[in-house]
Amino acid sequence: MSFPVHRGRRLRRTAALRTMARETRLAAEQLVAPLFVVEGSGVRQPIASMPGHARLSPELVAEEAAALAALGVGAVLLFGIPARKDAEGSGAWDAEGPVPRAIRAIRKRAPEMVVWADVCMCEYTDHGHCGVLADGEVDNDATLPLLARAAVAYARAGADVVAPSDMMDGRVAAIRAALDAEGCARTAICSYAVKYASAFYGPFRDAAGSTPRSGDRRGYQMDAPNVREALREARADLEEGADFLIVKPGMPYLDVVRAVREAVDVPLAAYQVSGEYAMLHAAADRGWLDLDRAMEETVIGLRRAGADLVITYFARVLAARLAEGRAAAEARR
Ligand code: PBG
Repeated sequence: MSFPVHRGRRLRRTAALRTMARETRLAAEQLVAPLFVVEGSGVRQPIASMPGHARLSPELVAEEAAALAALGVGAVLLFGIPARKDAEGSGAWDAEGPVPRAIRAIRKRAPEMVVWADVCMCEYTDHGHCGVLADGEVDNDATLPLLARAAVAYARAGADVVAPSDMMDGRVAAIRAALDAEGCARTAICSYAVKYASAFYGPFRDAAGSTPRSGDRRGYQMDAPNVREALREARADLEEGADFLIVKPGMPYLDVVRAVREAVDVPLAAYQVSGEYAMLHAAADRGWLDLDRAMEETVIGLRRAGADLVITYFARVLAARLAEGRAAAEARR
């Protein structure tokens, strides 16, 4: 059937028709908001490359989590930045470290909020790599028990989900075994199964002070040209016991999101990373694009590619816009 019988414009004519015909929708509960936690209290250190974001002390993280809960945001994802770093990254499993403290504070302040804790060594090691070093390389197997200890510390503090982002082989199995042995069988694992070595993590590394002191992460994070490898990583993590998965970064890897979506039957999250956030802000600051429209388009693009959940630094602003949109639609009725 073709023109003039068929006219694609009929269902695009008004906002209400477009809403009716929409194939993909976005709701606040599909968004996950990353937050950076530092030690102390009353601390709010703005992050220059991530406008609207700051490193927060635990009670301010809990306050932010309460605001996000009120907007209906699905979950928070916590990253810790310790005051002191060492070769092993021992701050990662300190029960009094920033992340366990923030988890406990959120549990009191916003008990209904779903809490994810990122599990990685790079924020805690003085050399900035995601595991311990041996002969100048990250030692995979020596890192596994350290990741497992960190995961148990966050689970004990009350995290619903632990999210390993280190890309060591076998970490999901190690973490699952440790959680189960420590009475944390109900804590879920969302693995960053598919995480590429990416230029788009730059602002995050500024925020977390986790740029490797020497070398880079290409020896453990994935190589950008590969997609079949992503499926292998996804399946391996599911076999090891991951409950659901993350693909990261987002926009340069939409085909990977689609491919993983079709290969697995668990919930899938896509991570719109710090560099994606920063570049949209930078262009908007110059008047080169409309930030509100660009954030909606990029996040719905990840949903359309097949992500059930989107981890995004726009979570709060987007959820507020979605709530305003709903209120405006109610008012028109
Ligand atoms: C920790 C980790 C990183 C990110 C999430 N977890 C940094 C990295 O791998 O260098 C990046 C998140 C972002 O850029 O928003 N390994």
